Amino acid sequence: MKLFVDTGSIKDIEAIAALGILDGVTTNPSLLAKEPGDFRDNLKKICGIVKGPVSGEVTATDYAGMMREGHDIAKIDQYMVVKVPLTRDGIRACKALSGEGIAVNVTLCFSPAQALLAAKAGASFVSPFVGRLDDIATNGMELIREIVEIYDNYDFKTEILVASCRHPIHVVEAARMGADIATCPPAVIDQLFNHPLTNIGLEKFLKDWEKAQAVKA
Ligand code: G3P
Repeated sequence: MKLFVDTGSIKDIEAIAALGILDGVTTNPSLLAKEPGDFRDNLKKICGIVKGPVSGEVTATDYAGMMREGHDIAKIDQYMVVKVPLTRDGIRACKALSGEGIAVNVTLCFSPAQALLAAKAGASFVSPFVGRLDDIATNGMELIREIVEIYDNYDFKTEILVASCRHPIHVVEAARMGADIATCPPAVIDQLFNHPLTNIGLEKFLKDWEKAQAVKA
């Protein structure tokens, strides 16, 4: 499974990319709004760091505006993916941009029916938001299970990009279900590393080693 980071922070992206486990980046208008500087320059820098799919979202809500913004975003770098919302205009823009060979990520997906539409429109990625479903007392990961089943039934090529991941269990369940990608905030990627037994074990190994060196000295 591929691991993306969901952030606009270049500092965080640099740090995670240095670990060698990062496959791509997702951003959204809320995340990019937090960063200083021009969003296009920031996206260009991110593409240079990760050299993998980097999603930049349109803010237009009508078809013509999405097409215009989509073309602008795609021009930023070869790694750019145009993110469009799962609306009628978004699906129409997805079909048109995908037809031109531009990679599209259809975002704000909350139902299997919506995911089916994204695949039919030729999306490269669909982004179901699991955490936001959990927030309204609906099982977000159940949506992933349903999308995996539907896409497998028809061999759709659209990659399932599990978004709005809030904790490591979302990531592990996504991997167990065979989702293609999980995108996580930097803090969740950090949590993936943690296990108390790793820390306790390492501490003991190092103490035992030091003791043995002291005896030999
Ligand atoms: O970028 C889309 C998604 O990952 C947002 O997550 O935590 O704001 O629901 P969240």
